[in-house]
Amino acid sequence: MNFIIVFIAFVISQAFACRHGGGTFINGQEWKERDAFIMKCTIHENGSWKTEVVACLAPNGNKIPINSSLDDGNDQWKCSMNERGMVTLVQGANPNAKCDGHEVGSRWQEKSFELECLSGGIRKLRSCVTEEGQRIPVNGSKEVNGFVLVCQSFPNGTVSFHGQKSIKAPKVFGDSQTVVKCSDEQNGDRNVGEFWIENHRFNKTCRANGAVEVVNCISKDGVQIPLNRQIVQDGSRYTCEMTKQGTIRFSAAPIDEKKKKMLRKFFI
Ligand SMILES: *[C@@H]1O[C@H](CO)[C@@H](O)[C@H](O)[C@H]1NC(C)=O
Ligand SMILES: *[C@@H]1O[C@H](CO)[C@@H](O)[C@H](O)[C@H]1NC(C)=O
Ligand SMILES: *[C@@H]1O[C@H](CO)[C@@H](O)[C@H](O)[C@H]1NC(C)=O
Ligand SMILES: *[C@@H]1O[C@H](CO)[C@@H](O)[C@H](O)[C@H]1NC(C)=O
Ligand SMILES: *[C@@H]1O[C@H](CO)[C@@H](O)[C@H](O)[C@H]1NC(C)=O
Repeated sequence: MNFIIVFIAFVISQAFACRHGGGTFINGQEWKERDAFIMKCTIHENGSWKTEVVACLAPNGNKIPINSSLDDGNDQWKCSMNERGMVTLVQGANPNAKCDGHEVGSRWQEKSFELECLSGGIRKLRSCVTEEGQRIPVNGSKEVNGFVLVCQSFPNGTVSFHGQKSIKAPKVFGDSQTVVKCSDEQNGDRNVGEFWIENHRFNKTCRANGAVEVVNCISKDGVQIPLNRQIVQDGSRYTCEMTKQGTIRFSAAPIDEKKKKMLRKFFI
């Protein structure tokens, strides 16, 4: 008697099981497929069965019902079914995402850069801002205190804000080498070996031949960058360099840690 019951139970479970990918599932059972979909087994009273995708699965583990979407940080995950019954999970930009707490459409300043929050939580550079609060539009320039300030944005995402000015020719006082002095931007006299700061950004000195040389650049926060060197500090890269034309270039650029996300697709 026991034997028969076991045997019958076995036959029934065989007849009323869904088969999918080498596994068997009971009526109403759900399982994960490729970590992107949730499938379900349905067994009808007449013994026929079907397996179907009933939802997508977001990377954070949440279920996304078919033909709906889920916002997760800067991403929006969309689960859709086409007319042929194919279910697709697509990652896109979340139109409701904020930029580190800044609302979409708002503008704010970070160090020397004015940024705007675009749809999808994308931060867009709008202008460079001087210490005095003057704005220089992206890819534009402006003359401030005799300095040409340039705000540049490169396709690779790097932003550069720098000032350029030619170094003045040396001025020699008196006869030949007797008294050598340098003159600063304001035409003031400077002694050989003296150090002074000009335009807030440049530490200059007067050499024995009367030439004015830049020793180092100085960032807004007081970081000293030796000539022809780069310093990375507090999320910014500072560069102080002499160009081939003999001008000194100081640039400060935020290091962009946010890389554009690739659009990922899953099909089943
Ligand atoms: C079994 O029942 C289901 C649901 O009622 C139906 O769609 C299907 O066609 C039936 N299959 C057979 C073989 O009768
Ligand atoms: C999802 O939308 C497609 C196309 O509009 C439709 O054919 C399908 O039946 C819908 N599926 C569900 C489960 O709503
Ligand atoms: C600035 O110039 C760069 C490179 O030429 C370009 O990719 C970028 O779109 C420009 N930005 C603006 C606001 O014009
Ligand atoms: C981005 O492009 C600019 C101009 O071509 C270059 O000077 C800079 O080094 C590049 N930055 C990175 C991180 O590749
Ligand atoms: C300017 O350069 C001199 C010589 O290297 C240095 O002692 C001084 O600290 C520098 N000043 C600033 C503000 O960078």
